[in-house]
Amino acid sequence: MTGGIRNIAVFDTTLRDGEQAPGCSMNSREKLEVARRLEKLGVDVIEAGFPASSPGDLESVRAIAGIIKDSVVAGLCRSRESDIDAAREALAGAAHPRIHVFLATSPIHMQYKLKMTEDQVAEQAFSAVKYARGFCSDVEFSAEDASRSDPGFVCRVFAGAIKAGAAVLNIPDTVGYAMPGEFGGLVRYIREHTPGAEKVKFSVHVHNDLGLAVANSLAAVSAGADQVECTINGIGERAGNASLEEIVMALRVRKDYLKADTRIDTTQLYGTSRLVTQVTGVKVQPNKAIVGENAFAHESGIHQHGVMANRTTYEIMTSESVGISTNIMVLGKHSGRHAFEDRLKLLGLSVDAETREKIFAEFKLLADKKKVVNDRDIEALVMGFAAAAPETWKLDHWAVNTGSALGASGTIRLRHRDGTFQKRISLGDGPIDSIYKSINQIIGKEPELELYEIGAITGGSSSQGETMVKIAWDDKRYNGRGVSTDIIESSIKAYLAAVNAMEWDAPENRGL
Ligand code: KIV
Ligand code: ZN
Repeated sequence: MTGGIRNIAVFDTTLRDGEQAPGCSMNSREKLEVARRLEKLGVDVIEAGFPASSPGDLESVRAIAGIIKDSVVAGLCRSRESDIDAAREALAGAAHPRIHVFLATSPIHMQYKLKMTEDQVAEQAFSAVKYARGFCSDVEFSAEDASRSDPGFVCRVFAGAIKAGAAVLNIPDTVGYAMPGEFGGLVRYIREHTPGAEKVKFSVHVHNDLGLAVANSLAAVSAGADQVECTINGIGERAGNASLEEIVMALRVRKDYLKADTRIDTTQLYGTSRLVTQVTGVKVQPNKAIVGENAFAHESGIHQHGVMANRTTYEIMTSESVGISTNIMVLGKHSGRHAFEDRLKLLGLSVDAETREKIFAEFKLLADKKKVVNDRDIEALVMGFAAAAPETWKLDHWAVNTGSALGASGTIRLRHRDGTFQKRISLGDGPIDSIYKSINQIIGKEPELELYEIGAITGGSSSQGETMVKIAWDDKRYNGRGVSTDIIESSIKAYLAAVNAMEWDAPENRGL
Protein backbone atom coordinates (compact mmCIF):
# COMPACT_ATOMS: atom_id res chain seq x y z
CA MET A 1 0.00 0.00 0.00
CA THR A 2 1.46 3.39 -0.99
CA GLY A 3 -0.27 6.63 -0.01
CA GLY A 4 -3.48 4.75 0.81
CA ILE A 5 -3.47 3.11 -2.65
CA ARG A 6 -3.40 -0.72 -2.60
CA ASN A 7 -1.35 -2.55 -5.18
CA ILE A 8 -3.39 -5.09 -7.13
CA ALA A 9 -1.48 -7.98 -8.69
CA VAL A 10 -2.20 -8.60 -12.37
CA PHE A 11 -2.39 -12.30 -13.27
CA ASP A 12 -2.46 -12.61 -17.05
CA THR A 13 -4.01 -15.76 -18.49
CA THR A 14 -3.90 -14.85 -22.20
CA LEU A 15 -1.65 -17.85 -22.85
CA ARG A 16 -3.92 -20.29 -21.00
CA ASP A 17 -7.59 -19.25 -20.75
CA GLY A 18 -7.23 -16.89 -23.73
CA GLU A 19 -5.46 -19.41 -25.89
CA GLN A 20 -8.05 -22.06 -24.98
CA ALA A 21 -10.74 -20.10 -26.86
CA PRO A 22 -11.65 -21.29 -30.37
CA GLY A 23 -9.72 -19.36 -32.99
CA CYS A 24 -7.15 -18.02 -30.49
CA SER A 25 -4.59 -20.81 -30.55
CA MET A 26 -0.92 -19.83 -30.71
CA ASN A 27 2.13 -21.88 -31.45
CA SER A 28 5.13 -22.06 -29.12
CA ARG A 29 7.09 -19.33 -30.85
CA GLU A 30 4.11 -16.97 -30.69
CA LYS A 31 3.53 -17.80 -27.02
CA LEU A 32 7.15 -16.98 -26.22
CA GLU A 33 6.85 -13.63 -27.96
CA VAL A 34 3.64 -12.81 -26.08
CA ALA A 35 5.21 -13.89 -22.77
CA ARG A 36 8.19 -11.58 -23.36
CA ARG A 37 5.82 -8.75 -24.08
CA LEU A 38 3.74 -9.45 -20.95
CA GLU A 39 6.88 -9.31 -18.85
CA LYS A 40 7.74 -5.95 -20.40
CA LEU A 41 4.20 -4.78 -19.69
CA GLY A 42 4.89 -5.56 -16.05
CA VAL A 43 2.31 -8.25 -15.27
CA ASP A 44 2.88 -9.91 -11.91
CA VAL A 45 1.93 -13.42 -13.03
CA ILE A 46 1.94 -15.04 -16.48
CA GLU A 47 -0.21 -18.16 -16.62
CA ALA A 48 1.75 -19.86 -19.38
CA GLY A 49 -0.48 -22.87 -20.02
CA PHE A 50 -1.96 -26.12 -18.80
CA PRO A 51 1.03 -28.51 -18.94
CA ALA A 52 -0.93 -31.76 -18.53
CA SER A 53 -3.26 -30.92 -21.41
CA SER A 54 -0.73 -31.87 -24.13
CA PRO A 55 3.00 -32.43 -24.60
CA GLY A 56 3.06 -29.24 -26.72
CA ASP A 57 1.57 -27.22 -23.87
CA LEU A 58 4.09 -28.64 -21.43
CA GLU A 59 6.93 -27.68 -23.77
CA SER A 60 5.68 -24.11 -24.22
CA VAL A 61 5.31 -23.64 -20.47
CA ARG A 62 8.83 -24.99 -20.06
CA ALA A 63 10.18 -22.61 -22.71
CA ILE A 64 8.41 -19.61 -21.17
CA ALA A 65 9.58 -20.59 -17.67
CA GLY A 66 13.12 -20.61 -19.03
CA ILE A 67 13.11 -17.01 -20.30
CA ILE A 68 10.88 -15.04 -17.91
CA LYS A 69 12.75 -13.55 -15.01
CA ASP A 70 10.61 -10.74 -13.59
CA SER A 71 7.10 -12.19 -13.56
CA VAL A 72 5.87 -15.29 -11.76
CA VAL A 73 5.17 -18.09 -14.27
CA ALA A 74 2.15 -20.25 -13.45
CA GLY A 75 0.98 -23.60 -14.80
CA LEU A 76 -2.63 -24.74 -14.42
CA CYS A 77 -3.51 -28.21 -13.07
CA ARG A 78 -6.62 -30.12 -12.21
CA SER A 79 -6.52 -31.38 -8.62
CA ARG A 80 -4.67 -34.54 -9.66
CA GLU A 81 -1.15 -35.67 -8.89
CA SER A 82 -0.40 -36.42 -12.56
CA ASP A 83 -1.34 -32.83 -13.55
CA ILE A 84 0.73 -31.39 -10.73
CA ASP A 85 3.69 -33.56 -11.78
CA ALA A 86 3.42 -32.17 -15.33
CA ALA A 87 3.35 -28.58 -14.02
CA ARG A 88 6.28 -29.28 -11.73
CA GLU A 89 8.28 -30.60 -14.67
CA ALA A 90 7.34 -27.66 -16.93
CA LEU A 91 8.13 -25.05 -14.27
CA ALA A 92 11.41 -26.58 -13.11
CA GLY A 93 13.47 -23.80 -14.75
CA ALA A 94 11.27 -20.88 -13.68
CA ALA A 95 12.78 -18.06 -11.62
CA HIS A 96 9.42 -17.63 -9.83
CA PRO A 97 7.16 -20.68 -10.38
CA ARG A 98 3.54 -20.98 -9.29
CA ILE A 99 1.41 -24.12 -9.38
CA HIS A 100 -2.25 -23.27 -9.93
CA VAL A 101 -4.66 -26.04 -8.91
CA PHE A 102 -8.40 -25.94 -9.43
CA LEU A 103 -11.47 -27.92 -8.46
CA ALA A 104 -15.14 -27.04 -8.88
CA THR A 105 -17.21 -26.30 -5.77
CA SER A 106 -20.70 -25.60 -7.21
CA PRO A 107 -23.53 -28.12 -6.77
CA ILE A 108 -23.98 -28.23 -10.57
CA HIS A 109 -20.35 -29.07 -11.27
CA MET A 110 -20.02 -31.46 -8.32
CA GLN A 111 -23.15 -33.39 -9.27
CA TYR A 112 -22.89 -33.53 -13.06
CA LYS A 113 -19.22 -33.11 -13.91
CA LEU A 114 -17.24 -34.40 -10.97
CA LYS A 115 -19.85 -36.79 -9.53
CA MET A 116 -18.40 -36.07 -6.12
CA THR A 117 -19.85 -35.12 -2.73
CA GLU A 118 -18.88 -31.96 -0.84
CA ASP A 119 -16.70 -33.99 1.52
CA GLN A 120 -14.84 -35.60 -1.37
CA VAL A 121 -14.25 -32.22 -3.03
CA ALA A 122 -12.98 -30.67 0.21
CA GLU A 123 -10.65 -33.63 0.73
CA GLN A 124 -9.34 -33.64 -2.85
CA ALA A 125 -8.67 -29.89 -2.82
CA PHE A 126 -6.72 -30.26 0.42
CA SER A 127 -4.64 -33.18 -0.87
CA ALA A 128 -3.91 -31.51 -4.22
CA VAL A 129 -2.68 -28.29 -2.61
CA LYS A 130 -0.60 -30.29 -0.12
CA TYR A 131 0.94 -32.33 -2.94
CA ALA A 132 1.73 -29.21 -5.01
CA ARG A 133 3.15 -27.50 -1.93
CA GLY A 134 5.69 -30.32 -1.71
CA PHE A 135 7.33 -28.92 -4.87
CA CYS A 136 6.50 -25.24 -4.94
CA SER A 137 6.18 -22.60 -2.23
CA ASP A 138 3.75 -20.57 -4.35
CA VAL A 139 0.50 -22.51 -4.80
CA GLU A 140 -2.78 -20.97 -5.94
CA PHE A 141 -6.08 -22.78 -5.46
CA SER A 142 -9.19 -21.94 -7.53
CA ALA A 143 -12.73 -22.92 -6.54
CA GLU A 144 -14.11 -23.29 -10.07
CA ASP A 145 -17.65 -21.91 -10.49
CA ALA A 146 -17.36 -20.20 -7.09
CA SER A 147 -20.06 -17.64 -7.97
CA ARG A 148 -22.64 -20.47 -8.24
CA SER A 149 -21.33 -22.30 -5.16
CA ASP A 150 -22.57 -22.22 -1.58
CA PRO A 151 -20.37 -19.46 -0.04
CA GLY A 152 -20.11 -21.38 3.22
CA PHE A 153 -18.78 -24.42 1.34
CA VAL A 154 -16.24 -22.29 -0.56
CA CYS A 155 -15.00 -20.98 2.82
CA ARG A 156 -14.65 -24.56 4.08
CA VAL A 157 -12.67 -25.67 1.01
CA PHE A 158 -10.52 -22.52 1.19
CA ALA A 159 -9.79 -23.10 4.90
CA GLY A 160 -8.50 -26.56 3.97
CA ALA A 161 -6.40 -25.12 1.12
CA ILE A 162 -4.86 -22.60 3.54
CA LYS A 163 -4.01 -25.40 6.00
CA ALA A 164 -2.44 -27.33 3.12
CA GLY A 165 -0.24 -24.32 2.31
CA ALA A 166 -1.93 -22.32 -0.49
CA ALA A 167 -0.68 -18.75 -0.85
CA VAL A 168 -3.43 -17.46 -3.17
CA LEU A 169 -7.13 -18.36 -3.24
CA ASN A 170 -9.01 -17.62 -6.41
CA ILE A 171 -12.76 -16.93 -6.67
CA PRO A 172 -13.81 -17.51 -10.29
CA ASP A 173 -17.05 -16.44 -11.90
CA THR A 174 -16.49 -19.25 -14.38
CA VAL A 175 -19.67 -18.77 -16.39
CA GLY A 176 -19.93 -14.97 -16.14
CA TYR A 177 -23.14 -15.20 -14.10
CA ALA A 178 -22.54 -12.80 -11.22
CA MET A 179 -23.72 -9.21 -10.86
CA PRO A 180 -21.15 -6.65 -9.65
CA GLY A 181 -22.77 -5.93 -6.24
CA GLU A 182 -23.36 -9.62 -5.68
CA PHE A 183 -19.82 -10.61 -6.67
CA GLY A 184 -18.25 -7.94 -4.48
CA GLY A 185 -20.45 -9.24 -1.65
CA LEU A 186 -19.25 -12.80 -2.25
CA VAL A 187 -15.60 -11.75 -2.17
CA ARG A 188 -16.16 -9.83 1.07
CA TYR A 189 -18.06 -12.74 2.64
CA ILE A 190 -15.34 -15.24 1.76
CA ARG A 191 -12.56 -12.97 3.07
CA GLU A 192 -14.45 -12.47 6.33
CA HIS A 193 -15.55 -16.06 6.90
CA THR A 194 -12.59 -18.18 5.83
CA PRO A 195 -10.48 -19.26 8.80
CA GLY A 196 -6.87 -18.26 8.13
CA ALA A 197 -7.84 -15.68 5.44
CA GLU A 198 -5.29 -13.20 6.78
CA LYS A 199 -2.45 -15.52 5.67
CA VAL A 200 -3.35 -15.53 1.97
CA LYS A 201 -4.07 -13.29 -1.00
CA PHE A 202 -7.49 -13.38 -2.67
CA SER A 203 -7.83 -13.40 -6.43
CA VAL A 204 -10.75 -13.15 -8.84
CA HIS A 205 -11.17 -14.63 -12.30
CA VAL A 206 -14.21 -13.43 -14.21
CA HIS A 207 -15.72 -14.39 -17.55
CA ASN A 208 -17.67 -11.98 -19.71
CA ASP A 209 -20.88 -13.84 -20.66
CA LEU A 210 -23.08 -10.93 -19.55
CA GLY A 211 -20.53 -8.28 -20.49
CA LEU A 212 -19.76 -7.68 -16.80
CA ALA A 213 -16.28 -9.18 -16.43
CA VAL A 214 -14.48 -5.89 -15.89
CA ALA A 215 -17.24 -4.45 -13.67
CA ASN A 216 -17.22 -7.62 -11.56
CA SER A 217 -13.42 -7.57 -11.27
CA LEU A 218 -13.49 -3.96 -10.09
CA ALA A 219 -16.30 -4.72 -7.62
CA ALA A 220 -14.09 -7.50 -6.27
CA VAL A 221 -11.15 -5.12 -5.93
CA SER A 222 -13.37 -2.73 -3.95
CA ALA A 223 -14.32 -5.69 -1.75
CA GLY A 224 -10.67 -6.42 -1.00
CA ALA A 225 -9.44 -8.74 -3.76
CA ASP A 226 -5.64 -8.57 -4.08
CA GLN A 227 -5.25 -10.05 -7.56
CA VAL A 228 -7.21 -9.87 -10.82
CA GLU A 229 -7.00 -12.54 -13.51
CA CYS A 230 -7.49 -11.25 -17.03
CA THR A 231 -6.40 -11.47 -20.65
CA ILE A 232 -5.14 -9.10 -23.31
CA ASN A 233 -8.05 -7.93 -25.51
CA GLY A 234 -10.33 -9.93 -23.18
CA ILE A 235 -9.85 -13.09 -25.25
CA GLY A 236 -11.00 -16.33 -23.66
CA GLU A 237 -13.66 -19.02 -23.50
CA ARG A 238 -17.06 -18.00 -25.01
CA ALA A 239 -17.49 -14.24 -24.49
CA GLY A 240 -13.98 -14.06 -23.09
CA ASN A 241 -12.27 -13.13 -19.85
CA ALA A 242 -11.99 -9.77 -18.15
CA SER A 243 -9.92 -7.51 -20.34
CA LEU A 244 -6.54 -6.62 -18.82
CA GLU A 245 -6.25 -3.24 -20.49
CA GLU A 246 -9.69 -2.15 -19.29
CA ILE A 247 -9.13 -3.21 -15.67
CA VAL A 248 -5.67 -1.64 -15.58
CA MET A 249 -6.81 1.68 -17.05
CA ALA A 250 -9.92 1.81 -14.85
CA LEU A 251 -7.67 1.40 -11.82
CA ARG A 252 -5.15 3.94 -13.11
CA VAL A 253 -7.68 6.59 -14.13
CA ARG A 254 -9.95 6.09 -11.08
CA LYS A 255 -7.48 5.23 -8.37
CA ASP A 256 -8.86 8.25 -6.50
CA TYR A 257 -12.14 6.35 -6.16
CA LEU A 258 -11.00 2.71 -6.12
CA LYS A 259 -7.95 3.36 -3.92
CA ALA A 260 -6.05 0.74 -5.87
CA ASP A 261 -3.61 0.58 -8.77
CA THR A 262 -1.29 -1.90 -10.53
CA ARG A 263 2.38 -1.91 -11.50
CA ILE A 264 1.58 -2.14 -15.22
CA ASP A 265 3.49 0.09 -17.64
CA THR A 266 0.38 1.32 -19.43
CA THR A 267 2.36 2.66 -22.39
CA GLN A 268 2.89 -0.98 -23.38
CA LEU A 269 -0.84 -1.77 -23.53
CA TYR A 270 -1.50 -0.94 -27.16
CA GLY A 271 1.59 -2.73 -28.48
CA THR A 272 0.73 -5.85 -26.46
CA SER A 273 -2.83 -5.76 -27.74
CA ARG A 274 -1.60 -5.51 -31.33
CA LEU A 275 0.78 -8.41 -30.85
CA VAL A 276 -2.02 -10.61 -29.49
CA THR A 277 -4.23 -9.60 -32.42
CA GLN A 278 -1.44 -10.49 -34.79
CA VAL A 279 -0.64 -13.89 -33.37
CA THR A 280 -4.25 -14.98 -32.85
CA GLY A 281 -5.70 -13.35 -35.95
CA VAL A 282 -8.59 -12.16 -33.77
CA LYS A 283 -9.16 -8.44 -34.21
CA VAL A 284 -10.60 -6.21 -31.51
CA GLN A 285 -13.83 -4.37 -32.27
CA PRO A 286 -13.21 -0.73 -33.33
CA ASN A 287 -15.12 0.68 -30.35
CA LYS A 288 -13.35 -1.52 -27.80
CA ALA A 289 -12.30 0.54 -24.78
CA ILE A 290 -8.60 1.45 -24.53
CA VAL A 291 -7.22 -0.42 -27.56
CA GLY A 292 -9.99 -0.22 -30.19
CA GLU A 293 -9.33 1.79 -33.35
CA ASN A 294 -11.89 4.42 -32.33
CA ALA A 295 -11.13 4.53 -28.61
CA PHE A 296 -9.48 7.95 -28.96
CA ALA A 297 -11.08 9.21 -32.16
CA HIS A 298 -13.17 12.34 -31.97
CA GLU A 299 -15.41 12.51 -35.00
CA SER A 300 -18.12 14.97 -34.05
CA GLY A 301 -17.42 18.67 -34.52
CA ILE A 302 -18.44 19.56 -30.98
CA HIS A 303 -16.03 17.02 -29.53
CA GLN A 304 -13.19 18.05 -31.84
CA HIS A 305 -13.70 21.65 -30.90
CA GLY A 306 -13.70 20.83 -27.20
CA VAL A 307 -10.59 18.66 -27.40
CA MET A 308 -8.74 21.33 -29.37
CA ALA A 309 -9.58 23.90 -26.71
CA ASN A 310 -8.59 21.54 -23.92
CA ARG A 311 -8.07 17.76 -24.17
CA THR A 312 -9.74 17.05 -20.83
CA THR A 313 -13.13 18.23 -22.14
CA TYR A 314 -13.73 14.85 -23.78
CA GLU A 315 -10.67 12.78 -22.83
CA ILE A 316 -10.27 11.07 -19.47
CA MET A 317 -6.87 9.65 -20.45
CA THR A 318 -4.46 10.33 -23.27
CA SER A 319 -3.85 7.95 -26.13
CA GLU A 320 -0.11 8.26 -25.36
CA SER A 321 -0.70 6.89 -21.86
CA VAL A 322 -1.79 3.56 -23.39
CA GLY A 323 0.95 3.60 -26.01
CA ILE A 324 -0.97 4.91 -29.02
CA SER A 325 1.10 7.44 -30.83
CA THR A 326 -0.77 10.26 -32.53
CA ASN A 327 2.28 11.69 -34.21
CA ILE A 328 2.16 12.10 -37.95
CA MET A 329 5.36 11.41 -39.66
CA VAL A 330 8.71 12.96 -39.63
CA LEU A 331 10.43 10.22 -41.55
CA GLY A 332 10.65 9.85 -45.31
CA LYS A 333 12.95 8.27 -47.87
CA HIS A 334 15.78 10.65 -47.00
CA SER A 335 15.66 9.90 -43.30
CA GLY A 336 18.76 8.26 -41.99
CA ARG A 337 19.33 5.35 -39.69
CA HIS A 338 19.74 7.67 -36.71
CA ALA A 339 16.34 9.30 -37.08
CA PHE A 340 14.77 5.90 -37.64
CA GLU A 341 16.34 4.39 -34.52
CA ASP A 342 15.34 7.43 -32.46
CA ARG A 343 11.78 6.94 -33.63
CA LEU A 344 11.81 3.28 -32.60
CA LYS A 345 13.03 4.31 -29.16
CA LEU A 346 10.40 6.99 -28.84
CA LEU A 347 7.71 4.48 -29.74
CA GLY A 348 9.07 2.05 -27.13
CA LEU A 349 9.77 -0.56 -29.82
CA SER A 350 12.86 -2.41 -28.73
CA VAL A 351 14.30 -4.97 -31.15
CA ASP A 352 17.67 -6.70 -31.37
CA ALA A 353 20.36 -5.29 -33.65
CA GLU A 354 19.89 -7.89 -36.40
CA THR A 355 16.12 -7.35 -36.59
CA ARG A 356 16.67 -3.58 -36.51
CA GLU A 357 18.82 -3.89 -39.63
CA LYS A 358 16.09 -5.84 -41.43
CA ILE A 359 13.40 -3.40 -40.36
CA PHE A 360 15.50 -0.47 -41.51
CA ALA A 361 15.89 -2.08 -44.94
CA GLU A 362 12.10 -2.55 -45.15
CA PHE A 363 11.57 1.01 -43.98
CA LYS A 364 13.71 2.30 -46.86
CA LEU A 365 11.69 0.26 -49.36
CA LEU A 366 8.45 1.54 -47.88
CA ALA A 367 9.66 5.14 -47.82
CA ASP A 368 10.42 4.77 -51.50
CA LYS A 369 6.82 3.79 -52.24
CA LYS A 370 5.04 6.03 -49.75
CA LYS A 371 5.75 9.73 -49.36
CA VAL A 372 5.12 9.82 -45.63
CA VAL A 373 5.84 6.97 -43.30
CA ASN A 374 3.97 7.53 -40.05
CA ASP A 375 4.32 5.94 -36.65
CA ARG A 376 1.62 3.37 -37.36
CA ASP A 377 3.56 2.24 -40.44
CA ILE A 378 6.68 1.86 -38.33
CA GLU A 379 4.77 -0.12 -35.71
CA ALA A 380 3.42 -2.32 -38.49
CA LEU A 381 6.93 -2.95 -39.80
CA VAL A 382 8.16 -3.96 -36.35
CA MET A 383 5.11 -6.17 -35.82
CA GLY A 384 5.89 -7.99 -39.02
CA PHE A 385 9.07 -9.26 -37.40
CA ALA A 386 7.54 -10.13 -34.04
CA ALA A 387 6.84 -13.83 -33.69
CA ALA A 388 7.44 -14.38 -37.41
CA ALA A 389 8.52 -17.88 -38.36
CA PRO A 390 11.78 -18.27 -40.29
CA GLU A 391 11.12 -17.87 -44.00
CA THR A 392 11.00 -21.26 -45.68
CA TRP A 393 9.43 -19.44 -48.63
CA LYS A 394 10.15 -15.85 -49.53
CA LEU A 395 8.28 -13.77 -52.07
CA ASP A 396 10.36 -13.00 -55.14
CA HIS A 397 7.76 -11.52 -57.46
CA TRP A 398 4.11 -11.81 -58.45
CA ALA A 399 1.65 -10.70 -61.13
CA VAL A 400 -2.10 -11.00 -61.54
CA ASN A 401 -4.37 -10.56 -64.48
CA THR A 402 -8.01 -9.94 -63.75
CA GLY A 403 -11.13 -8.19 -64.96
CA SER A 404 -14.92 -8.41 -64.86
CA ALA A 405 -15.16 -10.21 -68.22
CA LEU A 406 -12.30 -12.65 -67.69
CA GLY A 407 -11.34 -14.98 -64.88
CA ALA A 408 -8.27 -14.17 -62.84
CA SER A 409 -4.84 -15.67 -63.25
CA GLY A 410 -2.07 -15.33 -60.70
CA THR A 411 1.64 -15.91 -61.20
CA ILE A 412 4.07 -16.14 -58.35
CA ARG A 413 7.77 -16.85 -57.97
CA LEU A 414 9.02 -17.89 -54.54
CA ARG A 415 12.52 -18.44 -53.22
CA HIS A 416 13.01 -21.48 -51.02
CA ARG A 417 15.42 -21.22 -48.09
CA ASP A 418 17.76 -23.63 -49.93
CA GLY A 419 18.25 -20.90 -52.53
CA THR A 420 16.16 -22.41 -55.36
CA PHE A 421 13.27 -20.62 -57.08
CA GLN A 422 9.86 -21.96 -58.08
CA LYS A 423 7.27 -20.29 -60.26
CA ARG A 424 3.63 -21.23 -60.92
CA ILE A 425 0.60 -19.74 -62.64
CA SER A 426 -3.02 -20.64 -61.75
CA LEU A 427 -6.54 -19.63 -62.62
CA GLY A 428 -8.95 -18.77 -59.82
CA ASP A 429 -12.04 -16.95 -58.60
CA GLY A 430 -10.39 -13.57 -58.38
CA PRO A 431 -6.78 -12.44 -57.96
CA ILE A 432 -6.27 -13.63 -54.37
CA ASP A 433 -7.70 -17.08 -55.02
CA SER A 434 -5.56 -17.53 -58.13
CA ILE A 435 -2.35 -16.45 -56.42
CA TYR A 436 -3.03 -18.57 -53.31
CA LYS A 437 -3.60 -21.55 -55.63
CA SER A 438 -0.20 -20.91 -57.21
CA ILE A 439 1.43 -20.82 -53.78
CA ASN A 440 -0.29 -24.09 -52.84
CA GLN A 441 1.08 -25.72 -55.98
CA ILE A 442 4.60 -24.65 -55.06
CA ILE A 443 4.42 -25.80 -51.44
CA GLY A 444 2.61 -29.01 -52.41
CA LYS A 445 -0.10 -28.58 -49.75
CA GLU A 446 -3.63 -27.23 -49.77
CA PRO A 447 -4.28 -25.75 -46.33
CA GLU A 448 -7.81 -24.58 -45.65
CA LEU A 449 -8.18 -20.79 -45.58
CA GLU A 450 -10.24 -20.19 -42.42
CA LEU A 451 -9.92 -16.45 -42.20
CA TYR A 452 -9.05 -13.70 -44.63
CA GLU A 453 -9.43 -10.11 -43.51
CA ILE A 454 -8.19 -6.95 -45.04
CA GLY A 455 -8.04 -3.49 -43.53
CA ALA A 456 -6.01 -0.30 -43.53
CA ILE A 457 -3.20 0.60 -41.15
CA THR A 458 -4.16 4.25 -41.04
CA GLY A 459 -7.01 6.23 -42.57
CA GLY A 460 -6.71 7.91 -45.95
CA SER A 461 -5.89 6.81 -49.47
CA SER A 462 -2.14 6.58 -48.81
CA SER A 463 -2.64 4.00 -46.08
CA GLN A 464 -0.99 0.61 -46.31
CA GLY A 465 -3.23 -2.44 -46.54
CA GLU A 466 -3.05 -4.96 -43.71
CA THR A 467 -4.17 -8.54 -44.32
CA MET A 468 -4.72 -11.22 -41.71
CA VAL A 469 -5.15 -14.86 -42.64
CA LYS A 470 -5.63 -18.06 -40.70
CA ILE A 471 -4.99 -21.40 -42.36
CA ALA A 472 -5.70 -24.90 -41.08
CA TRP A 473 -3.55 -27.91 -41.85
CA ASP A 474 -3.38 -31.25 -40.09
CA ASP A 475 -5.75 -30.08 -37.33
CA LYS A 476 -3.53 -27.11 -36.49
CA ARG A 477 -4.04 -23.43 -37.20
CA TYR A 478 -1.48 -20.89 -38.36
CA ASN A 479 -1.85 -17.12 -38.55
CA GLY A 480 -0.17 -14.73 -40.87
CA ARG A 481 -0.18 -11.00 -41.30
CA GLY A 482 1.01 -8.96 -44.24
CA VAL A 483 1.36 -5.25 -44.77
CA SER A 484 1.97 -3.49 -48.05
CA THR A 485 1.01 -0.43 -50.05
CA ASP A 486 -0.60 -2.94 -52.44
CA ILE A 487 -3.45 -5.05 -51.07
CA ILE A 488 -2.65 -8.04 -53.27
CA GLU A 489 0.92 -7.99 -52.01
CA SER A 490 -0.25 -7.67 -48.39
CA SER A 491 -2.50 -10.69 -49.03
CA ILE A 492 0.42 -12.67 -50.45
CA LYS A 493 2.67 -11.71 -47.53
CA ALA A 494 0.01 -12.72 -45.01
CA TYR A 495 -0.53 -16.09 -46.67
CA LEU A 496 3.21 -16.72 -46.89
CA ALA A 497 3.67 -15.81 -43.21
CA ALA A 498 1.04 -18.41 -42.28
CA VAL A 499 2.57 -20.95 -44.70
CA ASN A 500 6.02 -20.34 -43.19
CA ALA A 501 4.60 -20.89 -39.67
CA MET A 502 3.06 -24.16 -40.94
CA GLU A 503 6.29 -25.25 -42.66
CA TRP A 504 8.32 -24.46 -39.56
CA ASP A 505 6.00 -26.60 -37.50
CA ALA A 506 6.31 -29.60 -39.83
CA PRO A 507 8.16 -32.48 -38.13
CA GLU A 508 10.80 -32.62 -40.87
CA ASN A 509 11.64 -28.93 -40.43
CA ARG A 510 11.44 -28.52 -36.67
CA GLY A 511 14.77 -27.67 -35.17
CA LEU A 512 16.39 -26.60 -38.44
O1 KIV B 1 -12.96 -19.97 -15.47
C1 KIV B 1 -12.42 -20.67 -14.59
O2 KIV B 1 -13.01 -21.04 -13.58
C2 KIV B 1 -11.03 -21.05 -14.80
C3 KIV B 1 -10.34 -21.73 -13.66
C4 KIV B 1 -9.54 -22.88 -14.12
C5 KIV B 1 -9.55 -20.75 -12.88
O3 KIV B 1 -10.47 -20.77 -15.84
ZN1 ZN C 1 -11.54 -19.13 -16.88
